[in-house]
Amino acid sequence: MKGLILSGGKGTRMRPITHTAAKQLLPVANKPILFYGIEALIDAGIKEIGIIISPETGNDVKECVGDGSRWGIKIDYILQAEPLGLAHAVKTARDFLKDSPFVMYLGDNLIKDGVGPLVERFKQGGADAFILLKEVANPSSFGVALLDPDGRINCLEEKPAKPKSNLALVGVYLFNPKIHVAIDRIKPSKRGELEITDAIQELINTGNRVDSHILTSWWLDTGKKDDMLEANRVVLDEMTDVAMNGDMDGSSRVSGRVQIGKGSKLINCTVRGPAVIGENCHLENSYVGPFTSIGDGARVSHAEIEHCILREKCQIMEFHGRIADSLIGVNVELTRSNNKPHAFRLMIGDDSKVEVV
Ligand code: TTP
Repeated sequence: MKGLILSGGKGTRMRPITHTAAKQLLPVANKPILFYGIEALIDAGIKEIGIIISPETGNDVKECVGDGSRWGIKIDYILQAEPLGLAHAVKTARDFLKDSPFVMYLGDNLIKDGVGPLVERFKQGGADAFILLKEVANPSSFGVALLDPDGRINCLEEKPAKPKSNLALVGVYLFNPKIHVAIDRIKPSKRGELEITDAIQELINTGNRVDSHILTSWWLDTGKKDDMLEANRVVLDEMTDVAMNGDMDGSSRVSGRVQIGKGSKLINCTVRGPAVIGENCHLENSYVGPFTSIGDGARVSHAEIEHCILREKCQIMEFHGRIADSLIGVNVELTRSNNKPHAFRLMIGDDSKVEVV
């Protein structure tokens, strides 16, 4: 069994963060989202993983992930010249996949319970494809499945205007090599992509068996800012390890589940977990509230930060205010004068979103 992780794409819904960074490398609890997928496949016993990369962000992904030796496995990179769809990504990976069955995992997805039991079910069950489903409130934003009474897939639709069910396709799929034949037979959809839903539908139409499992635990698709914050919240909520590897002065207080990395310093700060603070951070006269992740080398002073992801080396200095529900990129500088009346001096890139409340 091989693993294929899709880490190409454009990430348009996460701009401007994705103008300079791969969406799959954004941190959830200070760890790139992509690592959760890699580790889920490794936990399922998979030792050969191919990662689809794009020309724009491929080098960053390679540099961050490496050749797999840190996990004791082999990772190959497969360049997809254009993001022409999930089935196109599989087609691009044909030389890597050969005739092996494989798990396809979307590199911006997180699922709670891993994929080990699903791989076992697929190996033993004799289906040609096995897909994961989850009940959602907004099915028209997803690929949607209609099931037969015996749990087999009856039909699939990609982002239907009038969904026939509330069962969305989760970003983890298991295939045997018959999927390649199906992909060769489909045409690009109206949005110009080779859709994996069309390829699975083709498998069904040509008499192959597609089984499914409905997830009851959480699944997170981190396409947008609020999805990232939700992923961060859920992962921090389940964090059990507490670690204090930095220094704090006598007037700082840390409560709840908090991890603080090496070389970090807290001066007159209150931190309420669950929260993670990376290495070599400097926090002064500040409050860090629950569900916050702060990346390595960040500096914060006179600020209240809650339910946020602050990336590496960002600086929030003399802010004298509260920042909530925010995703702040690498090296961002945010300052505010304490004098009233307020004026804003801004240098904000294309597609930024700023909400002053
Ligand atoms: P999507 O989130 O569907 O697409 P996207 O990343 O381009 O984002 P947006 O819709 O905001 O523009 O992709 C799911 C995952 O699959 C994601 O990790 C990117 C990856 N992907 C590829 O590797 N190749 C592709 O051709 C496509 C469409 C996606």
